[in-house]
Amino acid sequence: MADRTIDQLCENLLAKREKASQGGGEKAIAKQHEKGKLTARERIQKILDPGSFVELDELVEHRCSNFGMEKTVFPGDGVVTGYGTVEGRIVYVFSQDFTVIGGSLGEAHAKKICKVLDLAVANGAPCVGVNDSGGARIQEAVDALSGYGGIFFRNVKASGVVPQLSVIAGPCAGGAVYSPALTDFVYMIDKVGVMHITGPQVIEAVTGEKVTSEQIGGARAHNQTSGVAHFFAANEDECYAQVRKTLSFLPSNNLEEPPRAEPADDTALLDMSLREVVPPNPNKGYDVRDVIKKVVDGADFFEVQPLYAMNIVTGFARVGGRPIGIIANQAKVMAGCLDIDASCKAARHIRVCDSFNIPIVTFEDVPGYLPGLNQEMGGIIKHGAKLLYAYSEATAPKITIVLRKAYGGSYLGMCSKDLGADVVLAWPQAEIAVMGAEGAANIIFRKEIEASEDKTATRAEKIEEYREAFANPYAAAARGYVDRVILPEETRPALHQALSMTANKKELRPRRKHGVMPG
Ligand code: HXC
Repeated sequence: MADRTIDQLCENLLAKREKASQGGGEKAIAKQHEKGKLTARERIQKILDPGSFVELDELVEHRCSNFGMEKTVFPGDGVVTGYGTVEGRIVYVFSQDFTVIGGSLGEAHAKKICKVLDLAVANGAPCVGVNDSGGARIQEAVDALSGYGGIFFRNVKASGVVPQLSVIAGPCAGGAVYSPALTDFVYMIDKVGVMHITGPQVIEAVTGEKVTSEQIGGARAHNQTSGVAHFFAANEDECYAQVRKTLSFLPSNNLEEPPRAEPADDTALLDMSLREVVPPNPNKGYDVRDVIKKVVDGADFFEVQPLYAMNIVTGFARVGGRPIGIIANQAKVMAGCLDIDASCKAARHIRVCDSFNIPIVTFEDVPGYLPGLNQEMGGIIKHGAKLLYAYSEATAPKITIVLRKAYGGSYLGMCSKDLGADVVLAWPQAEIAVMGAEGAANIIFRKEIEASEDKTATRAEKIEEYREAFANPYAAAARGYVDRVILPEETRPALHQALSMTANKKELRPRRKHGVMPG
């Protein structure tokens, strides 16, 4: 060593770096590309700002000597880790390298992931993980399991402190799926990402069911049916654009405010076309996203879980440059009623928004909870309670806009004044009541209707009487449950005013270890 020149030492380092950057080598990289997949490093380049990536631990090696492993040492040990920027803000990343022993996770590999998670928490910045792995490295046995345990533990400690985003860009099986499930957002790439606890062979052996991997774990299955994933991407480029866009709405950590864009200059504009979107007839459907797009900056609504529980719409947008989280009943799907899946979807989005100080804006048009044996036996009581819990627990600004129906328990469930809404706005066609006018009149005027000679005429008269009295926003406004009844065209200015008014909201609650979430 003593007689080597500095140039030789530098050459030596460059050679080590070059070897590390090759992952599993040319052949394995070609195989990865043949499968239509990018390499771990190419993926990081797509997530971070150009030239910003700083790699850590590229020379880490495993210490396993079982089953000939001592002969298969790859610098980096199958995962590329480090940090860089997204739109100029620091973001930590790890990206599993399938070209190295199938991206399998051993002790050293896991330690690298734990290191970036620790750094993300210590320095208050998000962590994006790209999962592409055969799971626990079989040769490393319990050390591999322990590695997963360390990751799960850190995912939970980081939850609600820094945003955690998980991309599923390859196989993800066994307990390995639980790290993504513990993070805030799961992105799946169609025909590339697969997530399941037990694969098709084990399922067939145990239950006799014949299923394909795509059926139980594909991007479509988890975005449409199970609700495990939040974003469906047709290809890798689309996926990384979704990751970057999500980060644009989130603060770097829970102590910061969400990043503001340039304030829009048209927040006072009245959009008369809003009068045409929601039919006054409560039995007619419409797409609530048409209302949202007319109210938010640049009609730019970024939907979260657009393919799951479509009777409720969740997502992010901005008003006057400020990020907001949106929860909206979707009148065109199941009349926008609340069921188990919709309650869970909305409750989770509320909790993510609240963790990161993002104001929660609710567009309400809800006829009630979905009746049925499936719902009752599926636990609508405990799952529906999650929505009440999440809204009541949230201390971020909460603004509710009643567009049309707000009936019964679901009126409370969609963030009424009593659940701590800071501002409740209602449109003139709002009906805030225990139930719809027809149902209500049939119950409370039943005897009069039955005793009358012309039952049809009396029923119509009584329905109208009830509608006059309660199927409007004015009874609620007269009691202060609604702060302002606004014209539809006033929605964007009113929302902007409400967000400005609540911008410095601070709400202190009694100290506790944590609450007990229903379910
Ligand atoms: C060690 C592994 C591995 C693993 C793959 N490889 N998975 N090595 N441990 N878990 C190796 C393969 O031997 C192969 O090595 C290389 O990676 C590429 O794998 P292929 O099989 O050639 O790739 P492909 O055909 O694309 O299939 C990918 C796959 C398959 C579907 C992921 O490899 C597979 O089924 N692997 C095992 C999955 C598994 O059962 N994992 C344990 C899950 S349990 P060579 O040298 O041939 O190139 C688990 C517990 C977690 O993860 C618990 C957390 C609490």
